Amino acid sequence: MHNTPTDDTTRTALVVFAHHRPDSLTAHIAGLAIRRLSAAGYRIDRLDLHGEGFDPRMTVADQPEWGNREKTYSPEVHDHMRRILAADLIVAVFPVYWVQMPALLKGWIDRVWNYGFAYGRSAPRLAGKRMLWLGLAGAADDDGYVELMQQSLGPQLNEGIAYYCGLSHSTVGLLTGAEDKPQRVDDAGNLVLGEALTGAAHTAHYEALERRAMGFVDELLASAAVAA
Ligand SMILES: Cc1cc2nc3c(=O)[nH]c(=O)nc-3n(C[C@H](O)[C@H](O)[C@H](O)COP(=O)(O)O)c2cc1C
Repeated sequence: MHNTPTDDTTRTALVVFAHHRPDSLTAHIAGLAIRRLSAAGYRIDRLDLHGEGFDPRMTVADQPEWGNREKTYSPEVHDHMRRILAADLIVAVFPVYWVQMPALLKGWIDRVWNYGFAYGRSAPRLAGKRMLWLGLAGAADDDGYVELMQQSLGPQLNEGIAYYCGLSHSTVGLLTGAEDKPQRVDDAGNLVLGEALTGAAHTAHYEALERRAMGFVDELLASAAVAA
């Protein structure tokens, strides 16, 4: 938890990110999101799943027992549940792997967003929370796979997870062009890497990606301000 001065009315943003390299673009975008949310007055809970050693593998202790929504899960999972409950906003930042979230983040959802906590109650405990999923994708902006990723990630994350758990608001911000060698799939199904961006073109490309990312964060902040 960051030590931002707070009072009782300070709202909390949980920024959860899933990457094995602290110098990744994913971690960088998570850092920018933290700065933006902090500047907007939010107390920040920074959850670096890899850095904190989160194990995405399901365990017997954390497997739901259908019919027992009061099950006591592992202490680690209850700790994560407390962090989610304390958050008004949740921002997940991750690289898109195989048109979905990476296993590390998926395991966090599987183990922590559990029966009796995130779903399975007539009065959802996560009601009122607002979420943004920021997915970085190697595909170039004009690659044919971008539409497939949009069509797949939107229903999967917004409806399959967020609305199933009673969240008030959920959007997916797909950040294409995350690789500096633009990735496209040709008509024969081959992955074709473009020329590496260099110099001013490289700078402009990543500044534009950062602006898109912050645009999604600003939309989340605006939706929370309207709801307040
Ligand atoms: C296992 C794996 C699967 C990937 N699947 C996709 C994909 O489905 N769509 C896509 O656009 N990029 C895909 N990529 C590219 C990553 O999204 C891209 O490398 C990443 O977003 C770059 O950000 P980073 O530097 O923070 O890792 C994949 C990369 C890996 C390693």
